[in-house]
Amino acid sequence: MSRLIVVSNRVSPPAIDSTGSQGGLAVALAAALRQSRGIWFGWSGEQVAEFTGKLDFRRAQGVTTATIDLEPRDVDEYYNGFANRTLWPLFHYRIDITEYDRQFDSGYARVNRRFADTLCPMLETDDIIWVHDYHLIPLARELRARGVRNRIGFFLHTPWPPVRLLATLPHHEALVESMFAYDLIGFQTEEWMSAFTDYCLREAGGRVEPDGTAHAYGQCVKAAAFPIGIDAEAFQKAARSNEARAMARRMRASIAGRHMIIGVDRLDYSKGLEERFTGYERFLADNPDLLNRVFLLQIAPPSRNTIGTYREIREKLDQLSGRINGAHADVDWVPLRYVNRGYSRRDLAGIYRSARIGLVTPMRDGMNLVAKEYVAAQDPKDPGVLILSRFAGAARQMKDALLVNPYSSEEIADALRQAMAMERAERVRRNSALLDGVMRDDVTSWRESFVAALKAVPQR
Ligand code: ADP
Ligand code: F6P
Repeated sequence: MSRLIVVSNRVSPPAIDSTGSQGGLAVALAAALRQSRGIWFGWSGEQVAEFTGKLDFRRAQGVTTATIDLEPRDVDEYYNGFANRTLWPLFHYRIDITEYDRQFDSGYARVNRRFADTLCPMLETDDIIWVHDYHLIPLARELRARGVRNRIGFFLHTPWPPVRLLATLPHHEALVESMFAYDLIGFQTEEWMSAFTDYCLREAGGRVEPDGTAHAYGQCVKAAAFPIGIDAEAFQKAARSNEARAMARRMRASIAGRHMIIGVDRLDYSKGLEERFTGYERFLADNPDLLNRVFLLQIAPPSRNTIGTYREIREKLDQLSGRINGAHADVDWVPLRYVNRGYSRRDLAGIYRSARIGLVTPMRDGMNLVAKEYVAAQDPKDPGVLILSRFAGAARQMKDALLVNPYSSEEIADALRQAMAMERAERVRRNSALLDGVMRDDVTSWRESFVAALKAVPQR
């Protein structure tokens, strides 16, 4: 059996890091790797004065990890720089805050070379290599330059931006050309995939076959959509665990007969938290009859907090939550509980289960796993209602949620009102349709379909 080598910037199986700040990629990959004889290779998250390429191997909960430390300059230019100040905002359609800096470019290229240099000696001929996310787009090109002929796949967890936005990136052609060193490129949705093939047609002057094979720069690569899922069975089990039940009891006591609305997100401007708070504020203003009968619990662990835009969003949310509570709170009621910390999977499952409404309103999101976790955690006999942004990749699959435009505080307020009033029969019908999809299109089927498609590509 060939080994699966997973490569990603961040390596932190949830078993090791349960703070919640690690995001969907880590959660999904740990579940996938547990089922194969694989290795997960990437950055340790640690810094070292001078890069040595020394590998640290560990084994935990059935997953082998191999990590390297990076220099402070690498972290600045590659992770905080090109990955999170250039590509992340650009890929989430935020060209207004995207930063372009040559130092970032060179740091990004250098770290991708460091990854290739360290990974190469570990590889066996029939290994299958699966690279994840925007931090490592040029990695396959670097591996090919070192003679690697293994099958290499790439999966992008974020959106892929439309041609006109991508064209604002200096050297965008070189970035896209480097993607042709992969054998397979996976996107979360058809929409992001067509934005990529559009680029190949319109900017690169190439052609695209009906099966998604793109030809450009004298090379070809297959592109397809593979919507990521959660480890649904495990999450349902977590929701029935003693810890989850204890948390649900704790929540019930503090809910005190009101309805709880839950939001769980990394503290990131793409998650639409400011707009969500404004939508909730509008809901409170429009529905005086519901004051004191509802509250919003927003859990948002800080993320990437050395970057200015992240510090700014945090400050704005502190102010906004203060304003909302200042205007509406009573001696026995706080309308907005805003918590900046992570919770274990089981605690989180118990919290989701106690919430009458799951409010998931990113401005743009590759997929969004919180929406799927919320559905999986519900009591099928008396489930809550999912309100979901139409701009999350998950909205393509989760049509039975209440879909909203997160830019409109009125739509958010109306959907909250509708969810509050929804009869049990309709809640059950919607949740059961959503749950069918979440159980069927889970992380295992995602991994299996990606790996099968990669194996089907002839080896170079
Ligand atoms: P992203 O990958 O952009 O962070 P997703 O919604 O796809 O967004 O995935 C977020 C993951 O991180 C989910 O699995 C969610 O449960 C987890 N998570 C987010 N916030 C917390 C938290 N406060 N505590 C624990 N887990 C969290
Ligand atoms: O899912 C998108 C993503 O950027 C992942 O690649 C990443 O692991 C997660 O969000 C959390 O971000 P970070 O690793 O920068 O904390």
